[in-house]
Amino acid sequence: MDAVQPATPPERAGNNTPDVKDPDLSKLGNNLVTKFHVLMRISQIYDSKNVAIQQFVQESLETINTLIKKERIISLKIVKDDFFLNDQRLRYSVEGFTSFKYLLTQWKKKLIGEVIFKSMVDEGGLKDFVYTLMRLEEGCQENAVLFNQALANHQIDTIVVNPLETVEGDEDETFSLRKEDQREVGKKVFFETIGAIKEVITHIKGEQYADVRKLKRLAQKAVHLVIEDESILLGMTTIKNYDEYTFNHSVNVSIYSLAMGKRLGFSKKTLTELGITALLHDIGKSKIPIEVLNKPASLNDEEWGTMKKHPLMGVEIILNLKQLGEINPRMVIGIFDHHLKSDLSGYPKLYRKKGISLFGRIIQIADSYDAMTTPRIYKKVPYTPEQALAIMLRERTVHFDPILLKIFIGLVGIYPIGSLVLLNSREMGIVYKPSHDPEWLDRPIIILVDRGREGEVKKGVVDLSETDGKGRYKRSIVKTLDPFQYHIDIAKYFL
Ligand SMILES: [Fe+2]
Ligand SMILES: [Fe+2]
Repeated sequence: MDAVQPATPPERAGNNTPDVKDPDLSKLGNNLVTKFHVLMRISQIYDSKNVAIQQFVQESLETINTLIKKERIISLKIVKDDFFLNDQRLRYSVEGFTSFKYLLTQWKKKLIGEVIFKSMVDEGGLKDFVYTLMRLEEGCQENAVLFNQALANHQIDTIVVNPLETVEGDEDETFSLRKEDQREVGKKVFFETIGAIKEVITHIKGEQYADVRKLKRLAQKAVHLVIEDESILLGMTTIKNYDEYTFNHSVNVSIYSLAMGKRLGFSKKTLTELGITALLHDIGKSKIPIEVLNKPASLNDEEWGTMKKHPLMGVEIILNLKQLGEINPRMVIGIFDHHLKSDLSGYPKLYRKKGISLFGRIIQIADSYDAMTTPRIYKKVPYTPEQALAIMLRERTVHFDPILLKIFIGLVGIYPIGSLVLLNSREMGIVYKPSHDPEWLDRPIIILVDRGREGEVKKGVVDLSETDGKGRYKRSIVKTLDPFQYHIDIAKYFL
């Protein structure tokens, strides 16, 4: 069977990508992806006659047929790593990410690139579609043809599929994208890295073979992004509640470390090594019992003893990791050093004095800042970015390298990215990125927050270094506010 032309051919992701032209369509599209995800999963548990799947089929039919009524014909198509619904690229949310990822992976494995619904679908048709899809063999070039034949055999002429189109030059193109697209790439790199580190940690916990090649590739992508515009990934670090703490924390520490490394003038190779080291800095914790890691109260002496072993256990683990390529000693030492304070009062206990390595000193700062600003089981309300920096500054001579700390503050600003602030215009804003000029650390770029009846919406981005005609600043920060008190989900503004 020939490939069928979609109703409106989706444009390629990249320049001139039509983004959210129709918010309704985008919402329905996201809903459709989630519904497909659930259906595909459920179909692996129950057979098509089981009543348990009935409700899910009905809900999916409702979404599909609402879309058909609205658009007449619908095409859900993969273009590179995105889904397009008719000519509109679907942007995923944090909650929708798992569904996007699942659908993208499954369709790609089965070499299916597009599904077209030509008119209203009924229950039988949708079930046949899902079960046929799930039965397809992975990697078979004929899948689209076989799929269409199977549908035709079931007298279903409302659904047609097309094979996956391969796009050449995928990797290189990624980094010459527009700002908006860079943000999308940043989001993907961020979430994929969380997934990759989770996989590595889970495998190490289960004493299984851990493949770190993906982690290495992602670290290289993160280096590219940080070199182009560090604020993109730095913004992602405000997502504090995604998945479990360790994975999120490892990625955040890596982002802060990379941004510091960039300011220190590291080469791409060194930056990649630093990125991987930071990603794996707490890998030793995979050998610590979960009851100790997640204990809501303070640790007793024995538990502390175990906890303090994680840098050394981390060293042992990475020395045994294959595919990390040549392991540079500074990666190993960086992991060993990350809890040694400047006065060596941290851990592991040293019997001979030594200086703390540069990687170790960088990771220490990133590590403390992220840990303090993230809600934990034993401290549900974290420090605000401003409070965390104040504490770090107070302890700078004992705990941190004061010069590196200065660089870190220059990086996150006096008002770190993600701080909620009150302006003298009586508006509330979120710090989006530090000013372009290091002289204006107190005049960052702000997203104004407007809290209407609908909840929180983006209102616009303003630069606090802007002046009126008479040389007076248009807006200034009066004070920082606690987002927990105002029930503002900061991360939403960075997605
Ligand atoms: Fe640690
Ligand atoms: Fe850590």
